[in-house]
Amino acid sequence: MVRDLSRVSGSIVESSAPNEAGYRSFRLGNFTFSRDEYFAHIEWIAKGAKLSHTMSADVFLRALMRDVAWDFFYGTVIFDDVFGTRNLYGAVEFFTGCYHSTYKDQGLDYAAVFDADLAMQTCRAILHDWTNTGYDPFAAPMETGLTWIGKKNGHNSAAIGRTREVCKRMPGLPGDVPLRTDQNRYPVNRAFLDVAQDEPEIHAEPGFENEVHAFNLFAYLSRSDVTWNPSVSSACKHSLFCPTTEEYILPVKHANDRIEWFLQLSDQIEWKIEDRVTGLPRAKIVMRPGDVAAMPADIRHQGYARKRAMLLVWENADPELPRLHDDGSLAPSPAEEFWPGG
Ligand code: PHB
Ligand code: FE
Repeated sequence: MVRDLSRVSGSIVESSAPNEAGYRSFRLGNFTFSRDEYFAHIEWIAKGAKLSHTMSADVFLRALMRDVAWDFFYGTVIFDDVFGTRNLYGAVEFFTGCYHSTYKDQGLDYAAVFDADLAMQTCRAILHDWTNTGYDPFAAPMETGLTWIGKKNGHNSAAIGRTREVCKRMPGLPGDVPLRTDQNRYPVNRAFLDVAQDEPEIHAEPGFENEVHAFNLFAYLSRSDVTWNPSVSSACKHSLFCPTTEEYILPVKHANDRIEWFLQLSDQIEWKIEDRVTGLPRAKIVMRPGDVAAMPADIRHQGYARKRAMLLVWENADPELPRLHDDGSLAPSPAEEFWPGG
C-alpha cells in the first residue's frame, strides 16, 4: 500500500484550461481528475507508476454530488470498485484500489489525506464545471435524462447547490427548516400523487406551544425533489431521523463507521450487502413497507428501487462511535450485543 501520510492542505483549487471537450481538469495532491464526453478519468502515481481509472461521468457525478451534499458522510463513500473517500472528520482520505484485491496484491493501492476544506472546495469545483445545463445528479434518471453526455454545455448551479436539509429539531417549527409546499417550489413528486397531504392537528396545553410539534412525514417526503439524499428531519441529541426518497440505484456503496437502522416507509428497496473490506457478498435484503433492518458497522451496502420509495435512515451521530467500533468495544451488529455470541 502506498499511503501519502502528509496531510495536504491549502485553499487554492488547482485546475487546467478546458480540454477539447470543454471540461477543465482538477488536481488534488497526487490525483488528477478529468472528464470527456462520456467518462471521468482519475490519474495518480503509485510506486512511481502513473495509474489511471475510468468511470462513466454520470456515475462519477452522481456519487460526487452525494459526497459534497453529505460533507463526506459517515465512514466510507465508495464510487466504484476502485475509487472512493473515507471521512476522517476534519480531514478526508481519497483512495484508489484500497479495497480491490488485485491492486492490493500488486502493492498499487494508494491513499492520500487532505484537509476536508480543500477537498470539498475541489469537489465542488469539479461538480460545477462538469455538470451541464439540464443535468441534475440528484434526480432519478427518468427525470434528468442523458443531459450529462457530450461536450461542455453550460452549468446547473441551482441543482448542485442543494445540500442535505438538516433541521435543528423538526421541520415546521419556528426558526427551523420549513415544511415543503407548492409555494416554496416543492410540488408533489409524480410517484406520490396518491399521498394524503393533510397535516395533524396540534392541541398543546397553554405554555407548551413551542414544545409540542407534529407534521405529516409522508406528505413531506412526497415533495422531496431529490433521490438518495437523506435529510435530517428530527434531531434529539445524537439520534437523527434521516428520511429520504429513493429511485433507481444509490449512486455510491456506503461503508458506515457505525450501525445504522433502516425503516421502510413505502414501496420496496433491494439492498446488496457486502463485506466492508473485501466487498464479498454477505446478504441481499428486500425491504417492504414496515420492514426494519439494522445495518452492521462492518458492511457496505447499495440500494435498488424500481419505483420511488420512502425510507427512514436512523443515524446515531455520536462522534465516539467510530473509535468504539475500531477498538472492538462495540460489536458491529446490535443483534450480537443483545445475544452474546449469537
Ligand atoms: C446509506 O448508505 O445508508 C444511505 C445513503 C443514502 C440513502 C439511503 C441510505 O439515500
Ligand atoms: Fe449506509
